[in-house]
Amino acid sequence: MAIRTIVKDGDEILRKVSRSVLNFDDRLAQTLDDMIETMHAADGCGLAAPQIGILRRYCVVDVGDGVIELVNPVIIEKSGLQQEQEGCLSFPGRWGVTNRPMRVTVRAQNRKGETFTVTGEGLKARALCHEIDHLDGIVFLDRLADDTKGGRHR
Ligand code: CO
Repeated sequence: MAIRTIVKDGDEILRKVSRSVLNFDDRLAQTLDDMIETMHAADGCGLAAPQIGILRRYCVVDVGDGVIELVNPVIIEKSGLQQEQEGCLSFPGRWGVTNRPMRVTVRAQNRKGETFTVTGEGLKARALCHEIDHLDGIVFLDRLADDTKGGRHR
């Protein structure tokens, strides 16, 4: 395991759309292990592959109740609305209140390629949406509830 460098605001990779994972190999497993270590070391609750410079559709989330690894994740259900303060390891020192669904169900694959679903509410829903957004080049500043604060990051 190793701590990876987190890509910061201004790097264009944060704005690119990631490609699907096709190979569930040792390299994917190793990178997921590194991402978990990097996320925990940075005291974050999620990290997406583009944030360590890899344009592939996977991310990790840990809101305190265990690590979830999501490969090729898709939001299949969402409901409600929450407006809470949010930040991002790629935007140190920046925070904003975002619009997010209160509850989401995500279908994804694990590191072996097995499909599973996970449902999250509140912070977990927020973290899942935030990380999946990264795979489409979307950052939390694009989801601000009050768009006059912080400004759109385009
Ligand atoms: Co982020």
